[in-house]
Amino acid sequence: MSKNRVMVVDDEFHMRDFICETLRRKHLEVVAFSDGQSALDALAKYPVDLIISDVKMPKMSGLTLLKHIKQTYPTMDVIMITAYGTIEDAVTAIREGAYDYVQKPFAPHDLLLCVEKVFKFRDLVYENKNLKQQLGTRFRFDNIIGASPKMLKLYETLEMVSSSKASVLIQGDSGTGKELVARAIHVNSPNRSGPFIKINCAAMPDTLMESELFGHEKGAFTGAIKMVEGRFSLANGGTLLLDEISEMSPNMQAKLLRVLQEREFERLGGRETMKTNARIIATTNRDLKTLLREEKFREDLYYRLNVCPIFMPSLSERKEDIPLLINHFLSIYAKEYNRPIESLSQEALDVLMNYSWPGNVRELENKIERAVIMCMERQIAPKHLFMEESASIPGFAVPVGEDLPITLREIERMAIFKTLKENNSNRTKTAEMLGISVRTLRNKLREYRTEGIAV
Ligand SMILES: Nc1ncnc2c1ncn2[C@@H]1O[C@H](COP(=O)(O)OP(=O)(O)OP(=O)(O)O)[C@@H](O)[C@H]1O
Ligand SMILES: [Mg+2]
Repeated sequence: MSKNRVMVVDDEFHMRDFICETLRRKHLEVVAFSDGQSALDALAKYPVDLIISDVKMPKMSGLTLLKHIKQTYPTMDVIMITAYGTIEDAVTAIREGAYDYVQKPFAPHDLLLCVEKVFKFRDLVYENKNLKQQLGTRFRFDNIIGASPKMLKLYETLEMVSSSKASVLIQGDSGTGKELVARAIHVNSPNRSGPFIKINCAAMPDTLMESELFGHEKGAFTGAIKMVEGRFSLANGGTLLLDEISEMSPNMQAKLLRVLQEREFERLGGRETMKTNARIIATTNRDLKTLLREEKFREDLYYRLNVCPIFMPSLSERKEDIPLLINHFLSIYAKEYNRPIESLSQEALDVLMNYSWPGNVRELENKIERAVIMCMERQIAPKHLFMEESASIPGFAVPVGEDLPITLREIERMAIFKTLKENNSNRTKTAEMLGISVRTLRNKLREYRTEGIAV
């Protein structure tokens, strides 16, 4: 307990002395005051770990002092000394935030027990916080949602990749979270305190790209009215994300290769050789191996970039994550648009689970955002989802994957069965929902029966 500093406040000299002595014998550092106001004044300049105060004092009562302390130092621990038989004071003190109370008369042992409890508890809280912080600062992938085996594997790779400074190539379909992952690598990397700079390599003419990447000198080209730093300089000490790297022209690929090999470059129109230590992350949604074969992407650049390869799974490969992602986006957008939405109906979930998600997580995010905007109720139903595929039939979705191709007739049959089930076999309601007459429905069901399909 030696490191702790205790403040004692008591107007009675003997009592004050007794408390101070008891504490000092346990090697605690003690400061003592005879009234509340001077204690408060001292507290502003002299931090302590614990305050022990008498309740009954002539100028400012101990309870008033407690109130003041808790207002200014809400986490301060205070032990109150109460007079014999004044249990109400003790109750008030605890209610006002005192850690504990000791009733007079007391032995040194009683007081010390109470003091020890305060410090033990404090250590526990501290340790807990510390542990959490350590875990928190080690790897933070909190905003990446997914608990499927594919995602768990991804987190493992990310942990390994993040701690190094090697170049990373992230491959995956559009909307699978490549940029999200690139940012996560940055914030978990040794460069985390440096900048995260992004450049999109698609649809940019070479000169512009070159000037964007390497910067230019004043007068390097018409309109270059002043010197401009390039992204390689800006990303120094941090991470440079080269988005859609496959779209880079052969000329630019050659220039990029030099920077990756030598870590050096010149500004456009400049002579001075600049250095960069930015960590490079590149992303692509095209299969670079194919582009290599077609000689559209340089092999040497590919191997330079691909020191740490990361493959993003498509959403259809990790369907079990769909409910998690839905919850995640629901809570984000319900808050953003101030909607009282609590959940998604089972039917709506079925629709989303059975959809093929060509646009991956981005598409799911957009769909949920739109549903939240459209939904004024507590629960999102299929009608809020506006699925373009035939999945938009209430509670009905086209199976994907192995079950394709599927005929229109099969789709029709599935729609009928599902809607019937939803309406507890009520044919009138089913026909109405499907926009057909009851007679047509009856005929269809008869057809299925003659084909040997149970209805
Ligand atoms: N696992 C995930 N958890 C939470 N949000 C995700 C996840 N994956 C993607 N997202 C979200 O989906 C959207 C698209 O992600 P991102 O921009 O990273 O995709 P991308 O792979 O770079 O797509 P593109 O190839 O089209 O550029 C973002 O809003 C992102 O936050
Ligand atoms: Mg992207």
